[in-house]
Amino acid sequence: METPPFLQTAGDPLAIAVFASGTGSNFRTLLAHSEQGMLGRGCIVCLVSDRPDSGAVAHAMSRGLPTFTATHQEVGGRKAFEEAALAFLASHGVRWIVLAGYMRLVGRTLLQAYEGHMINIHPSLLPHFPGLDAPAQALSAGVSETGVTVHYVDAGMDTGQIIAQTRVPILPNDSLAALTTRIHAAEHELLPRIVAQLCSDAMDTK
Ligand code: GAR
Repeated sequence: METPPFLQTAGDPLAIAVFASGTGSNFRTLLAHSEQGMLGRGCIVCLVSDRPDSGAVAHAMSRGLPTFTATHQEVGGRKAFEEAALAFLASHGVRWIVLAGYMRLVGRTLLQAYEGHMINIHPSLLPHFPGLDAPAQALSAGVSETGVTVHYVDAGMDTGQIIAQTRVPILPNDSLAALTTRIHAAEHELLPRIVAQLCSDAMDTK
């Protein structure tokens, strides 16, 4: 039987779940780091997705990674989805959640269990351009730089405490595709580095 999280010692791996809805390039980068032992004590043990047809789910399946996926419609809404996800996370001893392109607000069910142990990556320099389509928002605003932010998750839309940011310049005549590519490159560098750092710092046993 698996050792319950509260019995694990400070030297044990910290089980991490990634939540993703889309292509999953951040998820793939994190999983590659995990497989190479590059997340400190952190170890990606499962994926949760609200999009069964997503690239993230396809990749998890191809790597044999345990995956919980269902649409909110299938299970009867966000609360039911999060309750099912919570049971799945418990069965894998998950202590940290990384939202990597998870395009849903997190509800009370998950927050009550994981607030303080749940982080998100967002493609802007928060508090600027929260919400959907942040790179397009930055281009439309005519600013000369944007970036990426890793922050703790709270009940708001991209409002939690900021952990780290990377600046990304917006070039003259930038296209959305070119800017998005540079933002992704910045994310793929920042997110694994911060996850590794948090897992090295984390001495609690949640
Ligand atoms: C990433 O750019 C991530 O920052 C963004 O979705 C993209 C997912 O890409 N998240 C948000 O906008 C959340 N508000 P990926 O599926 O290739 O990792």
